[in-house]
Amino acid sequence: MANMKAVRIHAYGGPEVLKYEDAPRPEPAAGEVLVRVHAAAINPVDWKIRAGYLKGFMDYQMPLILGWDLSGVVESTGAGVTDWKKGDAVYARPDIRRDGSYAEYIAVKGSELGHKPKSLSHVQAAAIPLAALTAWQALFDAAGLQAGQKVLIHAAAGGVGTFAVQLARWKGAHVIGTASARNHAFLKELGADETIDYNLVKFEDVVRNVDVVLDTMAGETRDRSWQVLKKGGVLVTILGQPSQEDAARHGVRGVGVFVQPNQGQLEELAKLADAGKLHPVIEAELPLAAAVRAHEMNQTLHTRGKIVLRVV
Ligand SMILES: NC(=O)c1ccc[n+]([C@@H]2O[C@H](COP(=O)([O-])OP(=O)(O)OC[C@H]3O[C@@H](n4cnc5c(N)ncnc54)[C@H](OP(=O)(O)O)[C@@H]3O)[C@@H](O)[C@H]2O)c1
Repeated sequence: MANMKAVRIHAYGGPEVLKYEDAPRPEPAAGEVLVRVHAAAINPVDWKIRAGYLKGFMDYQMPLILGWDLSGVVESTGAGVTDWKKGDAVYARPDIRRDGSYAEYIAVKGSELGHKPKSLSHVQAAAIPLAALTAWQALFDAAGLQAGQKVLIHAAAGGVGTFAVQLARWKGAHVIGTASARNHAFLKELGADETIDYNLVKFEDVVRNVDVVLDTMAGETRDRSWQVLKKGGVLVTILGQPSQEDAARHGVRGVGVFVQPNQGQLEELAKLADAGKLHPVIEAELPLAAAVRAHEMNQTLHTRGKIVLRVV
């Protein structure tokens, strides 16, 4: 069996359990595509899984290749795949229940791939799928955000937040984002109408009557968010499920979203990127072998946009 380089864990633990090593190169099963990975983005779920925080919710066989964002080129196809051929440039948020993309190759269901945005590099494209699909599914599918509505986006400068700000603005919504002061000018350039420094200001003192809150923080940020919604508004969280009692008490809806692969949405996002309406924000680009450093950086909880591992 052929080998490849990959970053794997053999046990749950700190960043030091990430091992850059040889691993068997996967074979595409029926309906699957083998992708030569050119870049893989980091997401907080990677280090949450690495640390064992999601044990019980998602169980894995070790060793495990982390990483569920990729941009690359089709190397070969399994039986029955007619939509993709060797040489196609693709990007994806692949199935999180199996080996991920911190590797030279990954086998992905053909139905989970989208055409990579033509105008972007692989590093830029890899930054999009997981975070932008999350923002899309939370704002549009779950909350039904419309033009003219007001949305409060927590952690607007983060991986999900930077896409949420741009997508909400593209939709024609009025965008309010929370971030530390160093990110305010950056967020205005990205499309935020208003920014709130969460270190200095209680957002509930200055925000009223929003149609949608995007909760990326949970905890007391979520608890304090209900009161800023107008009656009939929606709090959509990407961390678990919100309390239905809290929602009812405030006369609003509370919805939880866990991102799902979605080919149609990847194609829409690629069109937006190629039209210059969606820009991945990349704080750092590191080689695959520097995954330990990438995790340490993302675990500070202050990444601006995304950190991406370069594989080719
Ligand atoms: N359900 C799902 O499918 C799903 C999908 C994606 C992500 N998630 C989860 O959603 C969360 C956010 O993900 P992400 O990728 O956006 O994370 P991230 O990129 O690591 O978020 C970093 C950002 O958080 C901001 N931040 C930190 N503390 C803050 C606070 N108290 N108030 C406002 N902003 C604050 C930082 O801004 P400053 O530097 O300005 O402080 C930084 O820009 C993670 O817990 C992740 O696991 C869930």
